Amino acid sequence: TSLKIGMIPADGIGKEVLPAAQRVLEALGSAIPKPEFIPLLAGWGEFNKNGKALPEETIRVLKEECDSAMFGSVSSPSHKVAGYSSPIVALRKHLDLYANVRPVSSVPIPGQQQSFKCDMVIVRENTECLYIKQETISTNPDGSKIALATRQITSRASERIGKMAFEIALRRGQERLAAPKGKESWWKGEPKVTIVHKSNVLSVTDGLFRESVRSIKEGTDRYAGIKMEEQLVDSMVYRMFREPEIFDVAVAPNLYGDIISDGAAALVGSLGLVPSINAGDNFVMGEPVHGSAPDIEGKNIANPIASIRSAALVLSSLGYVEPAAKINAAVDAVLMEGTYLTPDLGGKSTTTEVTDAVLKRL
Ligand code: NAI
Ligand code: MG
Repeated sequence: TSLKIGMIPADGIGKEVLPAAQRVLEALGSAIPKPEFIPLLAGWGEFNKNGKALPEETIRVLKEECDSAMFGSVSSPSHKVAGYSSPIVALRKHLDLYANVRPVSSVPIPGQQQSFKCDMVIVRENTECLYIKQETISTNPDGSKIALATRQITSRASERIGKMAFEIALRRGQERLAAPKGKESWWKGEPKVTIVHKSNVLSVTDGLFRESVRSIKEGTDRYAGIKMEEQLVDSMVYRMFREPEIFDVAVAPNLYGDIISDGAAALVGSLGLVPSINAGDNFVMGEPVHGSAPDIEGKNIANPIASIRSAALVLSSLGYVEPAAKINAAVDAVLMEGTYLTPDLGGKSTTTEVTDAVLKRL
């Protein structure tokens, strides 16, 4: 049997970093079933060419033919364009990929100032909050304008993302206990879930999010060994920048999760390092956290590591834990050695050279 992976490079550097992830998956040989890559269309470029940001055929093939998928990045315009809406937001909805799981961990990289120990997972709700994109604009009698956005929080979506966060905390706790000598985590405390919200101001919406996540722990003994904490989103950012080592798993509504994970990426050196998976109950899609980076596109200097690590996340969630660990070990070795780094990490290497270095380590 083979492993069918839908590949959606979409726009900008997505077209440069997804092939890197593909090369790494191909290099695993018999460690995984033979991967079969199915190229699929989506994105702003596709919209401008054929009028659809997310062709139906892409959704159909993902649903009917693929075991999993990898997404690059889209270039969404910041003004409203008739008929266009972001394909990644739509894909998460179509495939019910309700969780965006973003591990952010630091590796000592030569020449990088990293006094921080950061090894956290941000679990971002992926289907609602302000991202339902219900916005209106109207004109007041005095001619001034008023724009309104609807924010949707449901107990169902908040409970299932809460459950995902507690399950991840449970697994991380077990992995830390099982870590071999010399590879122990510096985190000696119990596993922890931090609920990120702003319910001091948004007491109804964030209040429901907070209560729904809390009810997951309170409803069972399964999570008795996991500590539950809360942090308002603004002070979350502050504490994350001062003492990121205190966080284990953080769970947040869509918008806060989006923002704190870009912030966390700065702590570990670059957005080009941080991977994610969009996960539902039956499907996962890997995706680097970064966007299409128009400032560096087409130069072969985008950091491929976020995409390569996203491929590893996909593998481990499909149950191929060992091959995923091999990929991560190869990536860590390349970073710690520091010879092959892209410019975002202070190096001079190209996307291709960094990928070659990872392949060599593999
Ligand atoms: P961005 O993430 O594309 O770039 C931010 C900064 O990080 C830039 O300086 C960029 O050069 C750098 N960077 C990002 N990834 C990198 C990598 N792999 N290697 C080296 N440097 C990297 O965010 P920005 O500039 O705000 O957005 C650009 C476009 O991307 C927009 O159209 C936005 O809508 C879209 N976007 C798409 C996302 C997605 O596809 N899921 C997520 C975020 C933004
Ligand atoms: Mg983002």
